[in-house]
Amino acid sequence: MGFNGDRDILFIVKASAPGKIILFGEHAVVYGRPALAVPVTQVHADVEITDSDSAGIWIQAPDINLHAELNTLPSDHPIASVIHNLFFLSRVSPFPSLNLKITSTIPVASGLGSGAAVTVALTRALSAHINYAMTDEQVNAFAYEIEKLHHGTPSGIDNTVITYAKPVYFIKNQVVETFKVSQPFTIVIGDTGISAPTKESVADVRMLWEADKAKWESLFDRAGAIVNQAREKIESGKPAVSTVEVWNDLGALMNQNHALLQEMTVSSLELDTLVTAALNVGALGAKMSGGGRGGNMIALVRPDQAESVARSLMEAGAKHTIITQVS
Ligand code: PMV
Repeated sequence: MGFNGDRDILFIVKASAPGKIILFGEHAVVYGRPALAVPVTQVHADVEITDSDSAGIWIQAPDINLHAELNTLPSDHPIASVIHNLFFLSRVSPFPSLNLKITSTIPVASGLGSGAAVTVALTRALSAHINYAMTDEQVNAFAYEIEKLHHGTPSGIDNTVITYAKPVYFIKNQVVETFKVSQPFTIVIGDTGISAPTKESVADVRMLWEADKAKWESLFDRAGAIVNQAREKIESGKPAVSTVEVWNDLGALMNQNHALLQEMTVSSLELDTLVTAALNVGALGAKMSGGGRGGNMIALVRPDQAESVARSLMEAGAKHTIITQVS
């Protein structure tokens, strides 16, 4: 256990980052259309750093069964790449001796942003520990560079919503705005339990887009229009628009977005099964969320329906569910 220079104060730094879901606009967002994403605080990645008495950077990440010294990891390992790149950026030399404990309750490779959350929490904890001050903008830009190392051509929406931990309206390289949720709503997240690398579905979409750009640009335009309508609904205040009307309209937009994602070939039998199960028991709308082919779907529900929709999702094959309030 480490102490600071006076050897009388225990020096611990902690940082945490939430999971996230994409409400509307995944895939089209890679092609410059807008998307909406919100943090999911029920799940999070946590990093704790203490000084180490033994030379080296000792990493404990029990959720992925990783117990190793930094230099024994390949340099392109996601955790190693955060540490190496941050120390390069901050010109730390020699590397300090540290114990890093990394834990996460965010399911891996399921569209909830587990990789980006670990990157953001680790970046914040390390930068605080070495007294290298970083603004949210700098953390976000750094996390985007790390995402690009591991995920091909990401839009940057994951690292953005996770860094700011607020609802975001996002257009790649152009707009990052947090938006006001005038009418809070309840979402049930259902996990297919199938881990599906986003990199692959993004690459497949790119191949199909290359082959027929006119068709795909029109699909992306339709997705972008849904996103803008959804944002308008979420921001529209009472009493001009009633809450129930907003929920119904948002639900219908979710269904339309899901149909487009099916056309984009990124849904799957398991995702469609969970979407149908939610709608069959009265959810107001449902869609896959994130990269697709596996991972998670989301259903918009009235608050009093949340538990019963979650139960129906489990009966239809979901591996677990999360109920979250967007507010
Ligand atoms: O990380 P995921 O699986 O939630 O997917 C990110 C959303 C995509 O639009 C499919 C890719 C991207 O980089 O925006």
